Amino acid sequence: MRIFSPGRVNLIGDHTDYTGGFVLPMAIDRGLTLDIERCGPRIELTSDRFDEPATIELPQRDPDTIEPRWARYVAGVAAELGAVSGFSGTITSDLPVAGLSSSAALEVGVALALGYEGSRTELALACQRAEQRASGVPCGIMDQLTIATAEPGRAMLIDCRSLDVSGIEVPDDLEVVVVHSGEHRELIDSAYGERRRQCEAAEDLIGPLRHAERADAETITDPLLQKRARHVISENERVLRFVHQLQARNYKAAGSLMNDSHDSLRDDFEVSTPTLDNLVDELRATSGVFGARLTGAGFGGAVVALTEPGSLDVGFAVRPAGGARVVAP
Ligand code: GLA
Repeated sequence: MRIFSPGRVNLIGDHTDYTGGFVLPMAIDRGLTLDIERCGPRIELTSDRFDEPATIELPQRDPDTIEPRWARYVAGVAAELGAVSGFSGTITSDLPVAGLSSSAALEVGVALALGYEGSRTELALACQRAEQRASGVPCGIMDQLTIATAEPGRAMLIDCRSLDVSGIEVPDDLEVVVVHSGEHRELIDSAYGERRRQCEAAEDLIGPLRHAERADAETITDPLLQKRARHVISENERVLRFVHQLQARNYKAAGSLMNDSHDSLRDDFEVSTPTLDNLVDELRATSGVFGARLTGAGFGGAVVALTEPGSLDVGFAVRPAGGARVVAP
């Protein structure tokens, strides 16, 4: 059996998913290919990106103790799905850079390899729990839900409260380019959890950020929590305005919302780095670039730019693609 599970890039809406806000990611035409055969009570996998293979006995109850560490994502899915019969096989990746959610691609791919047959939303939720168990990071639903539900040619507007997903066409006269900053994410584990707790603390003061308005954020007296809330509230607005501008083919306006998103992630949410900021500045100064921003969690990783086709000679152009699927029985 062959399964393809794509990576994802988020066009706009970062650090909004775990407070039930809006995000607009797309699955890309690159990802992981799993070639597997169903077999007995274990999973045996090799990966072209890691030296050590994964061997996971089933049923699996302690995914966070498995070595090598990449196998924890596989074990996490097996544990969440209560798998008793496994598979053996290989993973090959054609993801051009880090920061495109290879772990979520792995989780959703493994779930399909284990014969998962339920709804795509339940699939994403099980894989989110697997990621949290495997990494210890209290991630949101964006990555797994994108990879589980994406449609070719479309970015996915996700309402992270209801988990409703709607496809938004990405026109062919636009190019989406990902560029890696060269910076490996290191602070991410502890800082991500800290940001999430700060958002929760802001919600204790003004109620759900999803329903709050900018004026509500200004009532928070703690300056740090005020900034965090202002980012989330304004970012949710930007996602909806970006969808509107994309549909109206107003690419300049859409790009400028991406620029505002980066600035807010830098100044109010404080998840950018000088390297990311410089890269974003360079891209924005290139003719044909409508906008550029860090994408995903931040603290290093990748940048996404929206451009006229062929404007950039750095990075990789990606196309919106369908979600994880069995490509050969
Ligand atoms: C990581 C998480 C997502 C989301 C982004 C930031 O990719 O896995 O759930 O929170 O960071 O938008």
